[in-house]
Amino acid sequence: MKRQLRLGVLASGRGSNLQAIIEAGKAGTVDALVVIVVSDVANARALELARRYGIEAVFVDPRLHATNEEFDAAVIDLLRKHEVELVCLAGYMRLLSSSFIEAYAHRIMNIHPALLPAFPGLHAQRKTVQYGSKFSGCTVHFVDEGIDTGPIIIQAVVPVLDDDTEETLSARILVSEHQIYPQAIQLFAEGRLEIRGRRVCCHEAYASQGG
Ligand code: GAR
Repeated sequence: MKRQLRLGVLASGRGSNLQAIIEAGKAGTVDALVVIVVSDVANARALELARRYGIEAVFVDPRLHATNEEFDAAVIDLLRKHEVELVCLAGYMRLLSSSFIEAYAHRIMNIHPALLPAFPGLHAQRKTVQYGSKFSGCTVHFVDEGIDTGPIIIQAVVPVLDDDTEETLSARILVSEHQIYPQAIQLFAEGRLEIRGRRVCCHEAYASQGG
């Protein structure tokens, strides 16, 4: 059996990307296993979903931690206990502290519902529709200290239709999110990603698989 990369997923809400990652692992299209899900929201659907799959799911209460750093220290502690190798942010609505980013340097990914660097931050799909862009999409990137600014791993393009609303565009982008997040994780699991400054190079499969 192939070795499975140990994933820790941080999520604040619905958890559909989490589900896509779990299902890709179960289907064997991704050599990775979600070993823990952490949320900053007590009743996040992502936690409930993880428990349904028998995955450890932990709420870390922001009110019990005086600073963002302290909150992150509690999360890092959980990730270390579970020997997490790659951290995946999936609808996680907190900015990571620099100590978190150092602790998992080049081992944190995020998904964003726009073609970065366009429309970073909150309400990306709403801003896309309001701006009148003809194309949008989604981006998986490594996380640095900025808001959605880290080196880009994969992007998928989604057209914006004339009658799109925030909701219809979000739904169409989400379909692509569920495809590219597992793909990015698989590239990482295969050791094929190399960060060169702002660019992420993807090596051929044979380079890392020795055949
Ligand atoms: C997704 O659309 C994700 O791209 C977005 O939140 C949603 C979470 O959905 N993330 C951001 O906007 C981060 N800036 P999910 O909980 O169903 O995966």
